[in-house]
Formats: sequence, C-alpha cells, structure tokens
Amino acid sequence: MLTNDSYELLRRLASPLVAVTSAHGGRTNGMILDSAIRASISPEHPRLSVYIHKWHLSHELVWASGRFGAHLLTQDQFDLVHHLGFRSGREEKDKLAAVPHRIGESGVPVLEACHAAFECRVINTMDAGPSTLFLGEVVATHAGNTGTLLTADYFRANLPAKWREEFLKNYREAQDRIRDLAAVNDVRRWGGPTAP
Ligand SMILES: Cc1cc2nc3c(=O)[nH]c(=O)nc-3n(C[C@H](O)[C@H](O)[C@H](O)COP(=O)(O)O)c2cc1C
Repeated sequence: MLTNDSYELLRRLASPLVAVTSAHGGRTNGMILDSAIRASISPEHPRLSVYIHKWHLSHELVWASGRFGAHLLTQDQFDLVHHLGFRSGREEKDKLAAVPHRIGESGVPVLEACHAAFECRVINTMDAGPSTLFLGEVVATHAGNTGTLLTADYFRANLPAKWREEFLKNYREAQDRIRDLAAVNDVRRWGGPTAP
C-alpha cells in the first residue's frame, strides 16, 4: 500500500545537488535539482540525465537550445542553492547576473565556483508527465574546487531555519501544481516490448 511514508522513503533517493544552467535567445538562467544521474560508463561517450519540471524557465531554455550545463556543488554553496533553486527566473530578470560565470564552448553558462562542471548536448528526452528527462552527452568538463560534495541529505539536514518555510512552501506548490495539472497521469505510454 502506498502512503505518505512510502513517498518519504522514495524522497531519500536523490542525487547530489546540481546547478543546471541554460541559455537561449540572449537569456541565461540557472536552477537547482537533485534528480541527476550518470547515464553511461563509457569514457568515450560520457552521459548524464536530469529531470526538469515543465513549468520552469530552465525547461524552456534547455528544450529550445538543446544544451545545458550541470554543476556538482560543495557544502559551502548553500547561498547559491537558495539563489538559483528557490525562485524562478520567470520572476527574477537574470539569476546568473550575480553569479560569476563564463559562456562555455558549447554555449552554456559555466559557473566559476563548483566542484565540477559538465557541458551537455541533449541527445534524447523522455516525457515523464510533470517533468521531462533530458539525456545529455557531455561535450566538455571542467574540474573545480575539491570541497566535499553537497548531497541532498546534507542540504535538507542543514537547511538554515530562515529558509525552511520558503523551501516547504515551494515544495507544496510544486506538488499542488502536479496534482492540479493531473500531469502525473499524462505520460506518453511505453508501448511494451516488441518482438525482436
Ligand atoms: C534542493 C532542491 C532540489 C530541487 N530539485 C528539483 C528537481 O529535481 N527538478 C526540478 O525541476 N526542480 C527542482 N528544484 C526546484 C527548482 O530548482 C526551482 O523551482 C527553480 O526556481 C526553477 O527555476 P527556473 O524556473 O528559473 O528554471 C529543486 C530545488 C531545490 C532547492
């Protein structure tokens, strides 16, 4: 039987926090996610995937450009998580204006402060209902500082009290949005196995 406790268990299944950057039509943006995973063990074809909710500005920019930057962060980057992950770029003119970065060789913003940066080209997508899974081929990597990785567990456990209410409000709003849109059910179905 599925209960809220089941969901809390599922919530433990999170990636480290990743700052995703994007650029299209003169607009740049950044967001935070904990739904990234390495999607290849091939050194010749390194790949990773991320789930991005469809209503985020980042979704629009990644979809339109076919590119995104993914950055592993370190434990001292709570302020960056708050800056990029608590408010949409739709409300704020340019979230990256205050974040030191350069434009990488693939055209995506590369953050100066991070543990590692990956510039990715989208090679496939999957409709996941409220979100899209973007599969990215890593076209360039940049090593950053060697601090300890910022995991989702560490972030939740050490979330400053002054941000807790805002964090929970955003979380509830995202869940309401999914419920209102009935988008969880609106997934393009897999057709099932076909005969070889
Ligand atoms: C810890 C944390 C984890 C998050 N994980 C995800 C995620 O996996 N996918 C997602 O679409 N949004 C996630 N978000 C929410 C977005 O980062 C946030 O809504 C952001 O403001 C979207 O920005 P944009 O509209 O400018 O793209 C997360 C936020 C935080 C703080």
